[in-house]
Amino acid sequence: MYLTKEEERIYEGEFGETLEKAMRILVSLGEIYEASHLIPISSAHISGASYKTIGDAGLLYLSSLSGKVKVKSTLNPVGMDRERWREMKISNEFYEKQKEIIECYKKLGIEDVCSCTPYYLQKPKYGDHLAWSESNAVIYANSVLGARTNREGAPGALASALIGKTPFYGMHKEEERAPEVQIVVKEELEEEEYGALGHLLGETLRDSIPVFSFKKRLNEDEMKKLGASLAATGAVQLFHIKGQTPEISLHPEPKERIEIEREDIEKLMEFSEVEVIALGCPHLSERELYRVAELLEGKKIKKELWVCTSRFIKNGCRDVIKKIERSGAKVICDTCMVVSPLLENYDSVLVESGKALKYVPSMCKVDVQMTTLENCVKYAVGEL
Ligand code: F3S
Repeated sequence: MYLTKEEERIYEGEFGETLEKAMRILVSLGEIYEASHLIPISSAHISGASYKTIGDAGLLYLSSLSGKVKVKSTLNPVGMDRERWREMKISNEFYEKQKEIIECYKKLGIEDVCSCTPYYLQKPKYGDHLAWSESNAVIYANSVLGARTNREGAPGALASALIGKTPFYGMHKEEERAPEVQIVVKEELEEEEYGALGHLLGETLRDSIPVFSFKKRLNEDEMKKLGASLAATGAVQLFHIKGQTPEISLHPEPKERIEIEREDIEKLMEFSEVEVIALGCPHLSERELYRVAELLEGKKIKKELWVCTSRFIKNGCRDVIKKIERSGAKVICDTCMVVSPLLENYDSVLVESGKALKYVPSMCKVDVQMTTLENCVKYAVGEL
């Protein structure tokens, strides 16, 4: 990979150990993926923030870094709600270690938004190059906004934040963003069914780029759910929707075509008895919180209900949060049911998310079932 004179000097350690480590990571990635050179990025989003997932080794690595990031950089969810960690039954030791991790990131100039939906805080512009490392955020930025980012690992995103650049390959190149397979969905789906659709298709699509034909325009939350599931089950980084997403007119129509039956989606969403309900993977938007509040209006929960969102969304709609919590449900921020130890206290969980359906069994060792947000809430209040 070509390096400028200045990049070479960073690589040789002339600007300190942290930048040297960062540049070496970027050069290794560039060589693996045959990138021609580095390109400037406008923002980075960094995962690897929960003590549950990175442990002491991650904390040790982060403590060894110094200096400041070169571009706007935000942090993914951590392992606990920083205010309500006791209600989540988080141990004192976990709390202390998690605080240290957050401090390390803040010292580097990374904003501790602790959310997997940074696109609700500030939307990248069409054509912006990014280095983002949360898979749902990557696919949303690429597909819905027309920005350009590869699915970075946590070290790669952090290295890019520190250098302000990323290797030029994959999703950064227009010719790599063309759809490869058409997915035709003949019936209109309910909101969470788009997440179930992504979950079902991920394995088949693995790493490829689909273009969808739907009966209607999808709202932002539906595209979020579809993308999060596709990314979780199939490592998909970009999808297009005919007549809707911004890049579709740039590319020819692919020949391969798959038709989807609604029946398969409905089967995936059948559920039976569970112990607890957890919503918000990815973090709920303000609109989704309104949906939860409306469904809970004047009711009390009979089963525990945890609702995950980001602190910036919660701060912007405190009345809605109050309405939700009047029912006995708990709204937590900074974290989620997957990257926190929350579900260690239960044997089975009901979710509204195709991504959680994929990750909860492996990351939390808990039985998981999926249904619509409406059914989740109705089940929590004993109406189902
Ligand atoms: Fe976000 Fe946690 Fe799901 S980080 S996308 S809520 S696994």
